[in-house]
Amino acid sequence: MLKKEFKLTDIISFATSNGFIFPSCEIYGRLQAVYDYGPRGVLLQQNIQNFWWKSMVQFFPNIVGLNGSILMDARVWKASGHVDCFHDWVVEDKKTKKRYRVDHLLEGYISQVKKKNSELAEKLLQKMKTAMKDGDRKVLQQLLILYLPHLPGKREEVVWGEVRKMDLMFHSKVGAFTDQQEKIYLRPETAQSIFVSFLQVQRTTRQRIPFGIAQIGSAFRNEFNTKQFLFRMREFHQMEMQFFIEPGEDKNWFDYWCEQRMKWYRLLGIPSSSFCLEPHQNLAHYAQFAVDITYFFPFGRKEIEGIHARGNFDLKNHQEYSKKKLSYIDPASKKSFLPHVIETSAGLDRIFLMLLSAGLRTGKNKKNKERIYLDLPAPLAPYKLTLCPLEKSHIFYAKKLSDELRIYFSLLYEERGYIGKRYARSDIIGTPYVATIDDNSINNDQVTVRDRNTTEQIILQRRELVNWLTEKTSISSLIKKMSI
Ligand code: GAP
Repeated sequence: MLKKEFKLTDIISFATSNGFIFPSCEIYGRLQAVYDYGPRGVLLQQNIQNFWWKSMVQFFPNIVGLNGSILMDARVWKASGHVDCFHDWVVEDKKTKKRYRVDHLLEGYISQVKKKNSELAEKLLQKMKTAMKDGDRKVLQQLLILYLPHLPGKREEVVWGEVRKMDLMFHSKVGAFTDQQEKIYLRPETAQSIFVSFLQVQRTTRQRIPFGIAQIGSAFRNEFNTKQFLFRMREFHQMEMQFFIEPGEDKNWFDYWCEQRMKWYRLLGIPSSSFCLEPHQNLAHYAQFAVDITYFFPFGRKEIEGIHARGNFDLKNHQEYSKKKLSYIDPASKKSFLPHVIETSAGLDRIFLMLLSAGLRTGKNKKNKERIYLDLPAPLAPYKLTLCPLEKSHIFYAKKLSDELRIYFSLLYEERGYIGKRYARSDIIGTPYVATIDDNSINNDQVTVRDRNTTEQIILQRRELVNWLTEKTSISSLIKKMSI
C-alpha cells in the first residue's frame, strides 16, 4: 500500500467529511481558527489525551495531576510576563492588503545577511529584539523600510503600512456591574495554574522534589495566522507537565525529559525519522534553554511540543506579585529554596493533525481497487472494532455480542450494505479490526477478524475476543512499552 503525499487541503477535506473535525459555527459562516471535534474526532482526541495522561500521571509515581480553572486573577498574567511580552508586531503591504508578522519578515532577511556577514546579522537581530521588547514601533518601521523595500523573491516595491501591535491574549471582564468590572484574560497557556497551585499540590500530596504536576486543558490565543487548520487555533488544547527540581540540576533533567518525550512519540507508530529535536533560536521570555520537538507536516517542519528549562522565573515572579512565599523546604536538609522547573508542553491538536497526516494511506487493494484507510495505532483509533453480521439470520447473535463488547470497547455495529463497503467505511476512519458474524459463529461460537492494514483474517473463539482486543487495543498496551 502506497503512502501518497497528502496536502493540507486533502487532510482538511478528509477530516471534515468523515466526522473528525467541523469548523466552528459553519451555519453562521464559521469562526476563523476555531474548530469542533466531531464524533470520530472526539474519540481520537480522548485517546491521545488518555495516552499522555497515563504516560505521565499513572506511569510516574512522582507526577500528579491537576485541572486548573481557565479564568485566573489578572495579576497572574502580569507576573508571568504575558501582559508585557505576549503580542505580535504586524504590518500590512498597502498595495496587496496582505498582512505579515514583522519579526518573520526581518528574521528572513537577517538569515540571508548571516550567510555573508554574521556580525551585521547579530547586530540587526539585537536591534529588532530590543525594539520589540521596548515596543518601539518606529525602529521596527525603519528597519522594514531600510532592509525590506521588496518582499523576498519579488521585484515590485512594497508600500509598508504602519507597524501595529496585535495582542495575543483574549480579554474579558468580571463582576456584576458594568461600571465596576475588572479585566480578566482567557489563559494563553495552562502552565500558570500549575505554578500558582504548586505549594498546595506539593503539601497535600507530600511529594518531594524532584516531582511533576501534569495538566490537560484549553488555552486561547488571538492568533494572527488563521489558515493552518488545527496547527494554529485560537482555542486549542495543551498537555503540559512542570517538573520541579533542585537548582543546578536543570541540564540533567532537561536531557532526561527530552529523551522521555521522544520515546512517547516513537510509540505513535510514526517513523522516528519524522521527528526532530531542534534547539530554539529565539528563546521565550521565561526560558533559559529550550528545544522544539518538530514533525514534518505537508506545510513544512513544525513544532508539536516545546521543552523548556524555565529556571525559577515563574515561582519567583508569583512570589513577588502575590507576596506569598512559594519556597519548598527540603524535609531532610531543612533547606528552603525556590525550585527550578523543566516544562514539557505538547499541543494536543497538533498531535491530532500529525496522526491524520502521517496515517492517511491510499492505493490499490489485492483486487486492484482504489482503497483509502487511516493507519492509526490501534489504542488511539476512535473505534476498536466494526461488527458485521453477514446475513439476516446472524443479526441476533451479532447484536448480543456487540452489547457484550461495548462494556469494554468503543465499537461500531454495521448490518447494512455489501461487506466490501462496510470494510471500506471501517478502514477510512481508522478502525483496526472488522469482525464478521456468519454461520460458523452460530454453529461454533467463532468470529472472523480482519486486520485493517494487511486485510488478513484470523478466526477467534468468541470467549477469546475481549482479552485479544484488550491486548491489541488498550492504552496500557502502549504504556507497557514505555518501560522498555
Ligand atoms: N507553557 C509553554 C507554552 O505554552 P508554547 O511553545 O507557546 O509554550 C506549547 O506552546 C505548545 O502548544 C506548542 O508546541 C503547540 O503544540 C501548542 N500550541 C501553541 N499555540 C497553539 C495554537 N495556536 N494552536 C494549536 N496549538 C498551539
